[in-house]
Amino acid sequence: MNTEIPSLHQAYTGTFKIGAAVSTRTLRREGSFIAKHYNSLTAENQMKFEEIHPDLDRYDFAAADEIVDFAMQHGMALRGHTLVWHNQTPNWVFEKEDGTPASREQVLERLRSHAQTVMGRYIGKIQAWDVVNEAIEDKSEEYLRETKWLSTVGEDYLEQAFRIAHEVDPSAQLFYNDYNETNPVKRDKIYRLVRSLLDVGTPIHGIGMQGHWNLYGPSIDEIREAIELYASLGLRLHITELDISSFDFEDRRSDLKAPTDEMAQRLTHRYDEIFKLLTEYRSEIDSVTFWGAADNGTWLDGFPVRGRLNWPLPFDRELQPKPSFWKILEHGQR
Ligand code: GLA
Repeated sequence: MNTEIPSLHQAYTGTFKIGAAVSTRTLRREGSFIAKHYNSLTAENQMKFEEIHPDLDRYDFAAADEIVDFAMQHGMALRGHTLVWHNQTPNWVFEKEDGTPASREQVLERLRSHAQTVMGRYIGKIQAWDVVNEAIEDKSEEYLRETKWLSTVGEDYLEQAFRIAHEVDPSAQLFYNDYNETNPVKRDKIYRLVRSLLDVGTPIHGIGMQGHWNLYGPSIDEIREAIELYASLGLRLHITELDISSFDFEDRRSDLKAPTDEMAQRLTHRYDEIFKLLTEYRSEIDSVTFWGAADNGTWLDGFPVRGRLNWPLPFDRELQPKPSFWKILEHGQR
């Protein structure tokens, strides 16, 4: 590793934490690179319900423990991801033994014991939890996403989840996390949802803006408006899953083996304007996490177009800094 390259997170000391989504695989492969540039970790998958609690009576903590231990050894923060989500959650959570839907009380009891066991294990180590992930429906006319949480527990499932999480770890910062969070229609629904939670005294402390953006959008104005609206609730903001896809969502090309010059230039420009904006809101934003540590470990390879490569992060596949890295660094040092 080139030791002359400055540390990304050190450039942001006193501004906000700089995090990465990791797995035991990436930590084993490139742990020293990750520890040099990032001071916050999120398990990309290994704390999700189906991985950590696959069966009613079985938890599997091996991977999560390894990630938590790594963070502790390196003095890093941790974000817990995630307790209540419609994806990557086993069906048994919502079912009786005969396969019919479980009762509201049963599902809440399972959530409580899951939170006690998982959150409880990492009290004092995980400072922030994504308690509920992606509860808002993308279709404009609809409000809450239809999920098994909603159909079994009812509309107050978010409130209940936050109350349970707060009971288990009163010191943890509790987040609502979502994507397309800058889209004005969805943004207003997220605002309405969090407002309604606050109105009934729900213990919620922050909004996670996932930040799965691309080279063409959202605009800086849209990001700014979302930040201002969410911050007006008096909550803390985390950017939780930042990556800048090389492709517009509609773009289904899959033949490129490397980014074009135009893509590379746009990426530099995007990261420049995005970090200029984020540092402007440093008094609201506590943490900015990239969804992956470098381009060799991005979920966008293959999503949403199978077999397609993507180059969304400030470090390339050889873990070398791209021009975007240097732009991001400059904003931290200001
Ligand atoms: C969502 C989830 C993440 C992850 C990404 C894709 O944003 O919150 O946990 O699954 O999708 O990697």
